[in-house]
Amino acid sequence: MRHLMSPLDFSVEEVAKVLDLASDIEKNPAKYAHACDGKVLATLFYEPSTRTRLSFESAMIHLGGQVLGFSSAASSSASKGESVSDTIRMISCYADICAMRHPKEGAPMVASAVSGIPVINAGDGGHQHPTQTLTDLMTIRSLKGRLDHITIGLCGDLKFGRTVHSLVKALVRYENVRFVFISPEELRIPSYIREEVLDANGQEYKEVERLEDVIGELDLLYMTRVQKERFFNEEDYVRLKDFYILNKEKMDLAKPDMLVLHPLPRVNEISVEVDNDPRAVYFKQVQYGVYVRMALILTLLEVNV
Ligand code: NCD
Repeated sequence: MRHLMSPLDFSVEEVAKVLDLASDIEKNPAKYAHACDGKVLATLFYEPSTRTRLSFESAMIHLGGQVLGFSSAASSSASKGESVSDTIRMISCYADICAMRHPKEGAPMVASAVSGIPVINAGDGGHQHPTQTLTDLMTIRSLKGRLDHITIGLCGDLKFGRTVHSLVKALVRYENVRFVFISPEELRIPSYIREEVLDANGQEYKEVERLEDVIGELDLLYMTRVQKERFFNEEDYVRLKDFYILNKEKMDLAKPDMLVLHPLPRVNEISVEVDNDPRAVYFKQVQYGVYVRMALILTLLEVNV
């Protein structure tokens, strides 16, 4: 039985297979409409989510399966003091596969050690978010046509943003990817990513503070929200939350084919006037997220269509 904890749990070849399957699902949805008849997905969300949870549920429903779960710690037995390990042992009797989001780094890993069903990490604290990464990879591959030979700017909260940590881990495995990290000093990429992921792979990167200085050299701009819930004090959050606002003037400095991605939810970091720019693909990204999660469920349940 396989789980998905980190984007590195799949080899580059396995990622390509999942993305190929997701693309086939996109083209031939009817072929997969009953692939998971009789199967149940549990969504165990100890932390708020709109997209990720509903995207998993939509994915399972489009495969013909059923879903159950909870959407906050307060509405689960966690509020009575039940451990993640006990909860997953019980859920293993109710469902065939589960997606778990938790504010504590490593909680889905703890669950996977005792689980009788595949566990998917749907975001653990400021750590990893592998299914968002698969979504990002599918968006880039589908709209740019490749995952290698790209310059990607990651902008915003690079310290607490788990989507950034997972995406960097995944992209260092492709040839000639240049990273430009754009953040205020306080929200720079964590040193463990710098040392264990970038330096360890001899990866070229640069760190800057001003988006305007580098936007013109990017093929992709990955914007992120300042992660309010992971700040230790309100004052710092208020000072940093509107550090970047991508607007029309900044888009005018970008290449005509630079794509703007965002894992969403967006707060103020992208002005709504950018939404109609054909280079803004963050809502398309949401749709790719459903195809990718469908492909992932089929892969982990070993269902062949
Ligand atoms: C992200 C997350 O939860 O880490 N959202 C998502 O899953 N699409 C990004 C965020 O919350 O800022």
